[in-house]
Amino acid sequence: MKEQRIFKKSALTIITAILVLLFMPNLEAGGISPGKAEAATTFPDVTDFKAEIDYLTGLEIIRGYPDGTFRPKTSITRLDAVRMILREMEIEDPVAADPGFSDMNPETQGYALVAKAVEIGFIDGKVLEDGRKVFDPQGKLTRAEMAKILVEAYSLTADDNIKFIDVSSGHWASSHISRLATANITDGFPGGYFKPESSLERQHFAVFMARLLNPSEFQAGPVVIPPPKYPAPSTDTPGYYVDGILVVNKVHDLPSTYNPGIHPLAQTAADEMMADAKAQGVNLSVISAFRSYSYQETLYNNYVERDGQAAADRYSARPGHSEHQTGLAFDFGGTNQSYWLKTSFADTAAGRWLEANASKYGFILRYPEGKESITGYMFEPWHFRYVGSRESAKIKASGKTLEEYLGVRGR
Ligand code: DAL
Ligand code: ZN
Repeated sequence: MKEQRIFKKSALTIITAILVLLFMPNLEAGGISPGKAEAATTFPDVTDFKAEIDYLTGLEIIRGYPDGTFRPKTSITRLDAVRMILREMEIEDPVAADPGFSDMNPETQGYALVAKAVEIGFIDGKVLEDGRKVFDPQGKLTRAEMAKILVEAYSLTADDNIKFIDVSSGHWASSHISRLATANITDGFPGGYFKPESSLERQHFAVFMARLLNPSEFQAGPVVIPPPKYPAPSTDTPGYYVDGILVVNKVHDLPSTYNPGIHPLAQTAADEMMADAKAQGVNLSVISAFRSYSYQETLYNNYVERDGQAAADRYSARPGHSEHQTGLAFDFGGTNQSYWLKTSFADTAAGRWLEANASKYGFILRYPEGKESITGYMFEPWHFRYVGSRESAKIKASGKTLEEYLGVRGR
């Protein structure tokens, strides 16, 4: 019995120790001061951004841990961020009205800090699906959330409309992120990425704050957005454009005189795509690419004669309304011609390869399955439209048709 109890007791001690270790980061978060802020030079785990971390720990806005580490890659919680910004604002014992979050009450750790931050206006809560308003104090702060907090806490208003590759103009924090970059507080990650949904690391919090508080000493470099591998076509050609993308469908047409031939960018992309497919054992061929207004007219009239107008309109564009007249559309096939221009092409090796890979080369599947009510056309697993690789990646990731993505009518 006694032995068992001793065993239980020591097990409890071990569990307690593990729990303490697990929740060590909260020592920083809880503001239990490790005494004087450690000089950054004593942080054995800091290699990058030493000067910025030194500066910020010197101000005691962010502190090291009692074990002498800084833990640069540890994520910051939403409550940590509030706490550190209030430290910077030298607001020590805040008092503010109840912010009305269902996950925090006056007994909750950090309640008064959050209430004050809400009162100042630099952070607000989240509304859950069931309508409850919460603050989520222990939730990890995302980089997008940090951008919003800093822009609002420090009233950053200048905006050069800087567009990171992974921040669409429709992103809720796009203007905050752009303003943060305009103020030289962030230059994102190599390749032009901001990673808005990633959680913010302690080292990056320190860097952002150091640049914000001491711009003469610390500055982000310029944001460098590399050109895409397969660039978007120019917007100088005739037609209806939305967000820089030419829209040709049953609603929007091209002048009958527009006769450009295959677009050179689309041709290059198609050539490279077919070469790569071939290297992977998939033979693709081009069935149809550029079609003039008059050629489309002949095609359409023949289909109407054969199948009737209602049926023809489900698979053939009327003259002036075909994407093939843009020079940006390709109908691809595989080696077996019996699958050409048939729905069953989707299930061939070539059809599957295109579906998986065409977007890497700047092409989008223009008439996906089950979207006839939106695009106006039956499923065409062979018809691909060149938009450039940056746009094609975004459109594919959205899972939307071009009409849905751009918010335009297709019929
Ligand atoms: N088959 C497509 C819709 C065209 O005729 O352009
Ligand atoms: Zn086509």
